[in-house]
Amino acid sequence: MNESSQDKQVITAYGVSKVLDSEHPDFREGDLVWGTTGWEEFSLITETETHRKITYTDVPLSYYTGLLGMPGLTAYARFFELCSPKKGENVFISAASGAVGQLVGQFAKSIGCHVVGSAGSKDKVDLLKTKFGFDEAFNYIKKSMTWQLHCKGMKSKLFYVGNIALSVDWLTI
Ligand SMILES: NC(=O)c1ccc[n+]([C@@H]2O[C@H](COP(=O)([O-])OP(=O)(O)OC[C@H]3O[C@@H](n4cnc5c(N)ncnc54)[C@H](OP(=O)(O)O)[C@@H]3O)[C@@H](O)[C@H]2O)c1
Repeated sequence: MNESSQDKQVITAYGVSKVLDSEHPDFREGDLVWGTTGWEEFSLITETETHRKITYTDVPLSYYTGLLGMPGLTAYARFFELCSPKKGENVFISAASGAVGQLVGQFAKSIGCHVVGSAGSKDKVDLLKTKFGFDEAFNYIKKSMTWQLHCKGMKSKLFYVGNIALSVDWLTI
């Protein structure tokens, strides 16, 4: 593929669409759906495996690209199904200001965990503390993670929700 044909490729990503016409038995004209689509005004969608019909429309449709879409499902499964800490336990999240990490942090706070996040800039760290309600956050580029967690009082076994390599694990320091 040369550079000019690459330039003409439509970017695809999860998005919200309104069905204008459909030969699929599950989707009808006028339905709202979320799933993989092109960043363009009109798309011809032939692969429908990722598409889900939107039945609750009393929330902003943009939620289906976040909390109610794939980032939300990923965060929910990672935190509640794989990790499943209890109230008062320590949860540490890397890439915490990302789409998934910020939701994991808010889920963890909602059940009363002590939540610490790491991110790669001061702005992201500020966001974690001021907007997403993390108890603590730090810039991992400034000092080592182990040292920072030690200083945040997380000296015992804790849940580590890693968003860089899709890991969910225990970390003991
Ligand atoms: N979003 C979804 O729907 C979804 C679904 C399934 C799986 N996942 C997986 O879950 C993980 C997190 O996804 P996300 O959507 O939350 O990611 P995101 O919003 O794109 O955030 C990714 C963050 O990872 C950090 N990072 C650290 N090292 C990096 C590197 N070498 N290259 C790029 N970023 C790096 C960066 O934050 P810092 O500057 O703070 O380091 C970056 O902002 C990814 O592994 C993704 O593949 C996501």
